[in-house]
Amino acid sequence: MHPIRKAVFPVAGRGTRFLPATKAVPKEMLPLVDRPLIGYAVEEALKSGIEELIFVTAPGKEAIVQHFTADQDLVRELDRTGKSALARAVENDTLPRERLHSTIQQQALGLGHAIWCARHLVGDEPFAVILPDDVVMSQRPCIGQLIEAYGRVGGNLAAVMDVPRQDTASYGILDIAEDNGKLARARGLVEKPRPDVAPSTLSIIGRYVLEPSIFAELDKKVTGAGGEIQITDAMAKSIVHTPFHGVRYEGIRFDCGKKEGFLEATVAFALNRPDLASTMEDILLSYTGKYRTAAE
Ligand code: UTP
Repeated sequence: MHPIRKAVFPVAGRGTRFLPATKAVPKEMLPLVDRPLIGYAVEEALKSGIEELIFVTAPGKEAIVQHFTADQDLVRELDRTGKSALARAVENDTLPRERLHSTIQQQALGLGHAIWCARHLVGDEPFAVILPDDVVMSQRPCIGQLIEAYGRVGGNLAAVMDVPRQDTASYGILDIAEDNGKLARARGLVEKPRPDVAPSTLSIIGRYVLEPSIFAELDKKVTGAGGEIQITDAMAKSIVHTPFHGVRYEGIRFDCGKKEGFLEATVAFALNRPDLASTMEDILLSYTGKYRTAAE
């Protein structure tokens, strides 16, 4: 089986749910504590052995690539003034030029279309896809878990989780053929089905490993839910020749594409940081106390 060396980061969306914050700042640059969302996504890829990173961006979102460009003057200045921890944090989010590629999606025509835009940079090999607004806190990087599963079963894969039935209309949902608890093989996939017609409650989150044959399907530019070119539809059409497996990953996923998920992630990541945990606990306790008093 071909190793997974490349990861695609579709970061060309409009981020309308975070307006006006995302009017001039890309959603992927919003900070979770003190690091932009895209920083966590790139770290996850690097920890999983990914060698080449491909950003699909949009006009006006140049800050994303710029974030990973070396800034030796800044690092030198931080070191000179004794701020070496900050210097290392800056270096941590720097990528060598030859490992970073980018292409432009001129119009936000959907996630499937964004992935299709990376076809020439991916070439004829299987690849990973990471949506930075889905942040997964885990011991083992989420995309690494998918790559491991790919080594066992091949084909197309996505990270999946069970959701309450009333939420199926927000996800791509599996029509399950076989389920061994860790891996679920699908006979079909449906994008954003209503709860009453959803074939299951097993939902796809923003991590994929895809065979290059997906590009032939995306080439057809078929639109689906919301009038967008959906990756779920392309994977569903591919099932006749390429098996699809959902991987129940280990970890906690935060949907940072919406405000509630972003707020929760901010609390969880701060509580997970030795330098901030007790401060965050104090803040939470003080506010819980206030609300209790106000309600009494
Ligand atoms: P979302 O569905 O969250 O869309 O995309 P969005 O545009 O970012 O945000 P809202 O819904 O307007 O608030 C999920 C991921 O797919 C990328 C986004 O950048 C995000 O990382 N995407 C989506 C694209 O790159 N291109 C598209 O055409 C659509």
